[in-house]
Amino acid sequence: MAILVTGGAGYIGSVTVERLRASGEHVVVLDDLARGHRAAVDKDVPFYQGSVGDRALVARIAAEHKIDSCVHFAALAYVGESVAEPAKYYENNVEQGIGLFSALLKASVRHVVFSSTCATYGVPQQVPIPETCPQWPVNPYGWSKLFLERILASYDEAYGLKFIALRYFNAAGATAKRGEHHQPESHLVPNVLAAATGEKRHVSVFGTEYSTPDGTAIRDYVHVADLADAHILALAHLHKGGSSDFLNLGTGEGYSVLQVIECARKVTAAAIPARMEAPRPGDPPRLVADATKAQRVLGWKPAQSDLVSILRSQWEWRKKFPHAYGPE
Ligand SMILES: NC(=O)c1ccc[n+]([C@@H]2O[C@H](COP(=O)([O-])OP(=O)(O)OC[C@H]3O[C@@H](n4cnc5c(N)ncnc54)[C@H](O)[C@@H]3O)[C@@H](O)[C@H]2O)c1
Repeated sequence: MAILVTGGAGYIGSVTVERLRASGEHVVVLDDLARGHRAAVDKDVPFYQGSVGDRALVARIAAEHKIDSCVHFAALAYVGESVAEPAKYYENNVEQGIGLFSALLKASVRHVVFSSTCATYGVPQQVPIPETCPQWPVNPYGWSKLFLERILASYDEAYGLKFIALRYFNAAGATAKRGEHHQPESHLVPNVLAAATGEKRHVSVFGTEYSTPDGTAIRDYVHVADLADAHILALAHLHKGGSSDFLNLGTGEGYSVLQVIECARKVTAAAIPARMEAPRPGDPPRLVADATKAQRVLGWKPAQSDLVSILRSQWEWRKKFPHAYGPE
């Protein structure tokens, strides 16, 4: 039996593949490499370059590798791009996601762990955000994820597809071999570190007049290895016959942009110039998880998600692989 990991050549997917294999699982990766890196997946992992919406390909993979569960990371995930090109997001994330789920059901694969996001809450009505907080995304990316959450819930009721939808807060950090390398990079931690190496002249701070203690936006950063481990626990929960659920993955601690930059200055001993800029539309002031449910349901507790460990791990990775995965 094997696990199909879609988007396994991306950032969180590649770390999850690494940790699933370390825990003795057989893994198969399906990724179209639109945003991922072939070099992020070890050569001895069965790898298929293709789209998750290619039902014939998913059927073939499921049969050839005796797939019994799927971790579905594959998605486009830039908020700004989703506002400018919503069709691209609905077609890639929703339409192709539906194709994937149909092909999985046809192949009798009934366990799915799905990458959802705190972006499904939009501007949250309460912080820390519990899973019961009303969901009203403020961009097509968030909607594309919420639609798939709803589709999974309907497929559970009608077809018995059991799933765990994990709503990540801000993934960050690296393992010894795998780290964050998006092209272009919109995430704060890699951009702060690029300003530390001089690769970028400065890091942009979007918004300085939020209703937070230092005026900059507060986010809940989770170490990517902790996120990966939550997927392993979620699969175990489903294999034990556990019911479908929606779970936040965060730490319950928030850090402002300025706090992240200050911590990075200590970790890297670099000056890290910061440039204050206008806030980005739709960026809520504070996104912090109430992550107690994931602990209750899965027994998940982040082990290395303190800010220093996150920044140090990504800094070490960057020093070891200055060109990350190289030009693709
Ligand atoms: N990075 C974060 O902080 C964060 C936060 C919340 C949710 N998420 C979600 O987690 C998942 C992984 O995020 P990431 O940061 O690793 O992104 P990523 O872009 O590094 O990885 C996504 C991977 O999916 C692949 N892909 C995209 N569409 C595909 C398709 N139709 N068929 C096959 N492959 C396809 C890309 O090539 C890429 O390798 C995404 O679903 C994202 O929405 C990420």
